[in-house]
Amino acid sequence: MQTFTNKTAFVTGGASGIGLGIVHALLAEGANVMVADVRQDHLDATAAELAGTGDRVAFLRLDVSDRAAMAGAAAATAQRFGNVHILCNNAGIGIMAGAKEATYDDWDWSLRVNLGGAFNGIHSFLPGMLAHGEGGHIVNTSSVAAVLPANIVYGAAKCAVMGLSEGLRAELAPDGIGVTCLLPGPTTTNIHEVARLRPEQFADTHLGQFEQELAERPRNPHWLDPQLVGEMVLDAIRRNLMFVFTHSEHKAGAARRFEAILAAFPPARPGEEDTSRLGFRVANPMYDEMLRQAQPPARHRLSDQPIEK
Ligand code: NAI
Repeated sequence: MQTFTNKTAFVTGGASGIGLGIVHALLAEGANVMVADVRQDHLDATAAELAGTGDRVAFLRLDVSDRAAMAGAAAATAQRFGNVHILCNNAGIGIMAGAKEATYDDWDWSLRVNLGGAFNGIHSFLPGMLAHGEGGHIVNTSSVAAVLPANIVYGAAKCAVMGLSEGLRAELAPDGIGVTCLLPGPTTTNIHEVARLRPEQFADTHLGQFEQELAERPRNPHWLDPQLVGEMVLDAIRRNLMFVFTHSEHKAGAARRFEAILAAFPPARPGEEDTSRLGFRVANPMYDEMLRQAQPPARHRLSDQPIEK
């Protein structure tokens, strides 16, 4: 997708942090944007911030884990703007529970929002995107925690979002719908306010004290500006990139992980070149395509920013 004028985007978690960065970038390029978020205060603040944008932006209160509400959001977006071309499944919650403290409520809440929210978005919006035939793009926000292990409750969900995105990209390529998996590193957002989002239904947690302290921690000045992440996402949609990593600092660690994975395969056996006997795909050409187009993603203003000590 090269141009965004007269295109319509739906962005979840769009009223704060990275989602808001994506919204800004889309609006700057002339797209119509439906901003969906579960926090009314974030929606109100964003509506005030974007008051000068005119009728190209609209707001919707939505819990991405609510399937009926997501279906309603798809209908409402189509009614407001017509065909939807860009779906950003970005809403997420930073639940930091390892195996030793995780409750069923931590697990269920994380999976329902961080992973289930992405599937719900796809389930509700994809039929329309396929039907209008004008092409489109889906961006799923995972995390660098999908390639470098994090606490299990968050990490498992973000790994699954990465797997979902790759499978989806392979499946939708013939339909002219691109898919990008966004895997941010540390970015200055409101993700530390997770305690404010926890629903009554998932109240059982051992993280209460920790999440209160997390909310009060000072912000790290070295974390990334979410506006830059928004620009990276626009670049990825334009060039139909499969992955967006935001921090070069994670590359060496990721490389070690991939080396360790490759080292765990058994050695090749004579005659195994004919893989058809397995009746199972052993490779996917989309990675070849990705490597062919692999100039590093445009870093925009990021590459111009010296690291301040
Ligand atoms: P944020 O808290 O600033 O923004 C997330 C927005 O999603 C909030 O406005 C929140 O109200 C909304 N939200 C949460 N649960 C929702 C639900 N059930 N339904 C609808 N909206 C909901 O946080 P941030 O950092 O911008 O998070 C965006 C995405 O980026 C998340 O998926 C997060 O996991 C991911 N991410 C963030 C990183 C960071 O360092 N900030 C690093 C890696 C990934």
